[in-house]
Amino acid sequence: MAAMTLNSVNFGAAKAMNFEYVGLKMHQNITSARPHSVKFVPRGLIVNAEAQGEGPVKKLGKSDEECEAAVVAGIVPEAPPVPPKPAAPAGTPLATPLPLSRRPRRNRRSPVLRAAFQETSISPANLVYPLFIHEGELEGKKILQLEQCLDAIGLGGDMDLWKRLFSLVAKAQDVGVNSIVLFPKVPDALKTSTGDEAYNDDGLVPRTIRLLKDKYPDLIIYTDVALDPYSSDGHDGIVREDGVILNDETVHQLCKQAVSQARAGADVVSPSDMMDGRVGAIRDALDAEGFQHVSIMSYTAKYASSFYGPFREALDSNPRFGDKKTYQMNPANYREALIETRDDEAEGADILLVKPGLPYLDIIRLLRDNSSLPVAAYQVSGEYSMIKAGGALKMIDEERVMMESLMCVRRAGADIILTYFALQAARCMCGEKR
Ligand code: PBG
Repeated sequence: MAAMTLNSVNFGAAKAMNFEYVGLKMHQNITSARPHSVKFVPRGLIVNAEAQGEGPVKKLGKSDEECEAAVVAGIVPEAPPVPPKPAAPAGTPLATPLPLSRRPRRNRRSPVLRAAFQETSISPANLVYPLFIHEGELEGKKILQLEQCLDAIGLGGDMDLWKRLFSLVAKAQDVGVNSIVLFPKVPDALKTSTGDEAYNDDGLVPRTIRLLKDKYPDLIIYTDVALDPYSSDGHDGIVREDGVILNDETVHQLCKQAVSQARAGADVVSPSDMMDGRVGAIRDALDAEGFQHVSIMSYTAKYASSFYGPFREALDSNPRFGDKKTYQMNPANYREALIETRDDEAEGADILLVKPGLPYLDIIRLLRDNSSLPVAAYQVSGEYSMIKAGGALKMIDEERVMMESLMCVRRAGADIILTYFALQAARCMCGEKR
């Protein structure tokens, strides 16, 4: 704003000359005059750059006509006093300017400059919205808690599942979020030790995909490939009687699960189980069935993290015994993520995912620097809950911390972010306050 005001005045002697050029020329004159004009003349023209955006910008009192008349008459205003010196508080020490050749704050001094030099951006197109689906009526407290956690409040518990699902998808699309990832909660009666419900073509997930694709053909649907929602043991793989999670046998099931999801219309199948060799096997299985166009987003570096707590609580998906440390990665490990990256790349993954997000920014950056594939990050339930709780307790500004956390994940190198904030953040990006 200030620069524009200045220019429109500085075109004074311009008359018949080219606008652009004259503007430049006048500017040079002003610049050369600067070192000598130390006199401070308070005028409406002076705008403290730092105040821009925060306070009202002072305007020249002149109308366009008056400006034009001044230009025609050759009246050129005085150069602004340099440097403008608003009063510092009493007691501010008198300091000789430091002899700095570089003052990084110069590029941060106004909203326009800050916007011009912003290195990272984020848009609703970068977000994937996780949606939780369950069979039939509301099953009580746990799912309700989850819906709160999903910020789906206001949808009402009376509407049936499909209406609520459609309504959420429509709301997300309204603000530019066209990607969702589905997580099912299946009744215990359907869970077995080999998780066969995972590849039932008429199971909850395939039916949901078909319904959504029918109504929203452009919606990109990511699915979760893992046995835990279908396993009576609550593990991502088949458990042997001695407690060992079987790898290759599990991969066999995962291939059937992925193909079943692809058949229903899934766009991106996302193995989150951390079994070895599953990406290659799933690729082969998809291709063998004619699903060459279906992408694989591999959970490349998924850590055995306590940040999954709220998710497991809500879906009642805690492992029935033990933990997931024989397949999910040790949070202390960094190099190991590279091994997984190389394997997933070689096996044909289309997208590499890091999970959780914010505590693992170094891993996101590691993958970004070591692969040309798109990188995804999952801001998980624990991260989401901490920001929500901090906001509710008025300990932090929820909206700002939400946006900052997402921007930081992008800065670390993630192309897309799976986040429960997707709807809220996209609304915020679209300028909708709520
Ligand atoms: C497992 C799965 C997990 C999450 C989604 N799918 C983690 C786990 O239970 O090991 C966690 C997501 C979250 O915490 O938001 N297939």
